[in-house]
Amino acid sequence: MVATPGVQRGLEDVVALESRICFIDGVRGRLIYQGYDIRDLAAQSTFEEVAYLLWYGRLPTAAQLADLKTRFGTLRTLPPPLVERIESMPLESTPMDVLRTSVSALALFEPDETKPGESSIGGAQRLTAALPTILGTFHRRRTGRAPLRARPELSQAAYLLYALLDRDPTELEARAVDVALILHADHELNASTFAARVTASTLSDLYSAVTSAVGTLKGPLHGGANERVMDLLNEIGTPELCETVVKDKLAKHERIMGFGHRVYKVEDPRATILREWSRKVGEAKGNLRYYELLRRVEEVVHREKGLYPNVDLYSGSIYSLLDLPHDLFTPIFAASRVAGWTAHVLEEYQDLRLIRPTAKYVGAVDLTYVPLAERG
Ligand code: ACO
Repeated sequence: MVATPGVQRGLEDVVALESRICFIDGVRGRLIYQGYDIRDLAAQSTFEEVAYLLWYGRLPTAAQLADLKTRFGTLRTLPPPLVERIESMPLESTPMDVLRTSVSALALFEPDETKPGESSIGGAQRLTAALPTILGTFHRRRTGRAPLRARPELSQAAYLLYALLDRDPTELEARAVDVALILHADHELNASTFAARVTASTLSDLYSAVTSAVGTLKGPLHGGANERVMDLLNEIGTPELCETVVKDKLAKHERIMGFGHRVYKVEDPRATILREWSRKVGEAKGNLRYYELLRRVEEVVHREKGLYPNVDLYSGSIYSLLDLPHDLFTPIFAASRVAGWTAHVLEEYQDLRLIRPTAKYVGAVDLTYVPLAERG
């Protein structure tokens, strides 16, 4: 479509609000959460620390972190009627649909947390703790596995893997997922966070905002891209076919998932870190096939289109090596991004301004109304 003067299609480059939560330097390829470089956080912190940082604007002390972990352990348990509701959902439902519906349904059991304002921090913790349980409850049922337990001794990453795999992860598996959760926890005004903030800006509640966000993340141009990367790898099959398959898609003007970004003009720093973890997990599992194929895809896409990988390129390869099915990749993304969504909603409540852009009207005016009986 041709750009109309005065219209910023996709709100590209429009600065909609001020935020202290996350900074993307798209030119230098840096990502900052509340002042801290993502590379330092991925190397040294945990998802729990990062969630605390996003919500409170500072790193927790040891006591504050212990307290948050205890809270997560308690808040993992869902109200029994919600468990029953999830267990009665059609087995062929997509986990993202289950997640969206369950987040919305959880609000029915949390009346105190559905009042917008400071108290929403409780809802932020509740939702972050509950998302792995929602996913685990549904996935275990559709795969005929035993119901899960809250396992308060496990970190969020280890609990998420236990909930989905029905086994305790190894240290390396849990750390790989912990790093993935850290890297996905926030990303400024991405589409789903913007959707959450738009909802919150009407003074609607946190659960409604997160429901909007889950629905927005589902799309293949946003969170859904990592599932499609694995479809591409399966289609390519062997490294020798990589060049032909990718070039063929580009010639047909198809998008190669896991590449390109609205903000980064260089490599997404999250892709750099996940590439290393894809290799590490591949080595530990004795399976470097995905890693090698992805390296080859990168080479061809960069040569042919000058595009760099984004966060979605390598995450799916890690999850696949952990035997997680493709339709759980985006829900895992959500189980991390919920920390960022809720931090943004809390920020929105503190400096609220209804988000309501305008559209340039290009339709007709002054048409003559024709009564129904006279229309041909
Ligand atoms: N594959 C092939 N071509 C691409 C890709 C891609 N992945 N990304 C951009 N391009 C091309 C476009 O076709 C266009 O080319 P043209 O000018 O010849 O028509 C040009 O690059 C600019 O593309 P836009 O769509 O204008 O760029 P935009 O900033 O809107 O796109 C987006 C960003 C949506 C992420 C895009 O790069 C894309 O579709 N990527 C694939 C999906 C993906 O990986 N999404 C995950 C993003 S990260 C996340 O949300 C977690």
